Amino acid sequence: MKSRIISTGYYLPQKVLTNSDLEQMVDTTDKWIKQRTGIYERRIAEQDEASSDMGSRAAEMALKRGNIDPKEVDAVICATITPDHFFPSTAALIQKDLGLSNAFALDVSAACSGFVYALALADSLIKSGGASTIVVVATEKMSTITDWTDRSTCILFGDGAGAAILRPTDENRGILSSHMMADGNMGDLLIVPAGGSRIPASTESVKQKSHFIKMSGNEVFKVAVRKMIESSHIVMKEAGLATSDIRLLIPHQANLRIIDAISKRMRLEKDQVYVNLDRTGNTSAASIAISLADADEKKIIQKNDNIILASFGGGFTWAGMALKW
Ligand code: ACO
Repeated sequence: MKSRIISTGYYLPQKVLTNSDLEQMVDTTDKWIKQRTGIYERRIAEQDEASSDMGSRAAEMALKRGNIDPKEVDAVICATITPDHFFPSTAALIQKDLGLSNAFALDVSAACSGFVYALALADSLIKSGGASTIVVVATEKMSTITDWTDRSTCILFGDGAGAAILRPTDENRGILSSHMMADGNMGDLLIVPAGGSRIPASTESVKQKSHFIKMSGNEVFKVAVRKMIESSHIVMKEAGLATSDIRLLIPHQANLRIIDAISKRMRLEKDQVYVNLDRTGNTSAASIAISLADADEKKIIQKNDNIILASFGGGFTWAGMALKW
């Protein structure tokens, strides 16, 4: 028995923040941002629009497309590093919003790897018999942890949400293999230092801007390329797939140069690699979830196509997954 994604959904906020808008906010240029990242614009949520609101919209679309009654859902797993609150979990808020009254709910915190981690956990739950209809959501309001005066990070991030519904199947398609890994030794290279139990919120922590993302971009870049290639190869080997068998690699959408380096080293053709960061920026955990739902909607992926998901993020965390669509 396998588990299979039977439907997907996504949500992007209306408001578009362009590179020219950013030129008015920090010392940067449209040209630099496009050349160094591949990003043209990103979406920004409204002030009263929290991560659970965006996650609910994405999950609602996936439920509708899968023709699933909310009562049939056994579990909600939400990947996010920008939860509405410490608790209740964002998953519990989505469970309430959508009336998923027979479901348990929990959040997964694995930064940009969150969606692939959550899918792998849902796959294990289904295979072990712990649940049979699972809503996996990834939602991020990165704009709330972005320092809008720091040009090295504020140009990168955007808001949005994606979702997938998993169910068991006896067909020979679905999730073929997955791989999750972490290295906490490099945690300080990509971190929001304050707001938790280590540095609780205080006037001082706000003054020092310690509630915003601090990132050593260069270091993250190098490890991200290495680890996304490594995890792709691990899941491809386990699933018995060669490069020529891959219809689409969906890598974490952080930087076009990272994606190009991965594609080149994996010898993938341009049409085998999905890119949407030009329109969304880096939406952390939501990035692969939005991409998958978009590729599904546009019919870029069809029944029985082999797909590889590859993620990398804060922690450090990384993960890969091979699926037959
Ligand atoms: N506009 C203009 N100049 C800039 C900007 C900007 N927005 N940002 C930095 N610069 C300058 C720097 O100050 C530096 O100037 P200097 O040479 O005078 O010192 C120069 O540009 C080069 O800076 P670098 O940091 O070396 O630029 P780089 O090419 O590495 O690009 C970037 C930076 C885009 C952040 C890149 O390193 C990157 O994408 N890193 C990976 C991020 C990532 O993958 N994150 C994934 C996980 S995210 C998560 O988990 C939440």
